[in-house]
Amino acid sequence: MNKLRQIWNWIDDRSGISETFMPLIKHPVPPGSKWSYVFGSATLFCLILQVVTGIGLSLLYQPSSENAYQSLQFITHQAPLGRILRGIHYFGASGMILFAGIHMIRVYITASYKYPREMSWISGVLLLFLTIGMGFTGQLLRWDSNGVWSSVVAAEQMGRVPLVGKYLARILLGGDTIGGQTLSRFFSYHVFIIPAMLFVFVGFHLFLVFRNGISEPPEADRPVDPKTYRKWYQDMLKREGVPFWPNAAWRDALFGSLVIICIIGLAIVFGPPELTQQPDPSIITTNPSPDWYMLPIFSLFALMPPKIESYVIFIGPVLSVIGLLSLPFISNYGERSPVRRPWAVFGVVCVVIFVGSLLYLGLKSPWSPDFKTKAVYAVSPAKNPVIQKGAILFYKKGCQYCHRINGSGGVKGPDLSVIGRSWDEQQLSLQIVNGGTDMPAYGGMLSKEDLNALVQYLRSKK
Ligand code: HEC
Repeated sequence: MNKLRQIWNWIDDRSGISETFMPLIKHPVPPGSKWSYVFGSATLFCLILQVVTGIGLSLLYQPSSENAYQSLQFITHQAPLGRILRGIHYFGASGMILFAGIHMIRVYITASYKYPREMSWISGVLLLFLTIGMGFTGQLLRWDSNGVWSSVVAAEQMGRVPLVGKYLARILLGGDTIGGQTLSRFFSYHVFIIPAMLFVFVGFHLFLVFRNGISEPPEADRPVDPKTYRKWYQDMLKREGVPFWPNAAWRDALFGSLVIICIIGLAIVFGPPELTQQPDPSIITTNPSPDWYMLPIFSLFALMPPKIESYVIFIGPVLSVIGLLSLPFISNYGERSPVRRPWAVFGVVCVVIFVGSLLYLGLKSPWSPDFKTKAVYAVSPAKNPVIQKGAILFYKKGCQYCHRINGSGGVKGPDLSVIGRSWDEQQLSLQIVNGGTDMPAYGGMLSKEDLNALVQYLRSKK
């Protein structure tokens, strides 16, 4: 024991570990910190988890277009603990984005971005974008159809930015289309470039927390005045400050540990998302569905009238970046309490509802065909053989991916459960042969008998 102590004393004396870190651990913080303050550290816990599992994955992952898919299959199904490792990395990413978002909302509601913490907000916004960038680039590394097609869609959106779009897309993808070079490039973004920037900004973000102190819980009628705030804060700390560890940090430690346990639990129970098939440019029916945190953006683009899309793609992100970055400059003094800032709270509620609905729509994605629908003909077979044949064709030819009949089928096209009431044979065959807006023309793909069977089937729907 004595020997150990001696060794520690030697290390500590030469390296100055406790001299450096004790003041940080023991530094006084405002009393009365709340549970709502744990989300920033929860994000950090997730990041650490991502670094550890990411390094683990990189030991087996092969970033080349020939091998990436197989190496991930190997990690998922054969490598010991590989499934859990991928699962943790997936749920850890979700957790990081979720907690970063909640942390940001908390900071906004308590107006902690006001003087002298403007720089914390700005570095936080950059961290949020870097985190989303990690999610986006990570998705392509799966090199399955979902990941690849989601990136194709994103690159196409980017290509529509006026003037520089083409170049941006080319820099992003490493060429005009997605290919092997894109994979190497995204690998490099995902494991070198973005993490390096993340570390720098996380370090800076934490440094600022120590330099400017944790923001005290806001109180109504106690506005921030940049002229007197620092002195007031120091005096307050002297009077009533409590040591960071354990008085404030135990909540961070407890919540962070719970988060990690939950992530590991989810990884064990649900595992990572299954890889879809390998990307194949000839399969045009794939329906790219990105990970949940990308869905709101996808929904927005799917719902927007195509005419304004090109402008919104450019102006939307620019405006949100400018808006977010300029927030602390617009108002860096005054009331911090949400009670005194009802409009700020209202605004945040609107944004959350808006993004939430986009996410909900994205999960249901009514605009894309539903390839998993159950065949109606099997559920309620028809007696008439022609009608039964039509019902089978209705499923086999993919009509049901877009049309709902008796409660099953996609919702991209109208429900056809009672189409026979209003449409006659001629109208039906015209629609099927010629197609319509967002409906393919089936003229060349159906024999006369098939067409007739389909029409009879639909006529019977009354
Ligand atoms: C990719 C999705 C999609 C597929 C596949 C599809 N449809 Fe449609 N269908 C639509 C859309 C969207 C509309 C409405 C727009 C229009 O009428 O042009 C529509 C309209 C119709 C209508 C007119 C209904 C109305 O109330 O306007 C009929 C009938 C119809 N489809 C039958 C079929 C049949 C039969 C098939 C299979 C051979 C089929 N559709 C395949 C998307 C699809």
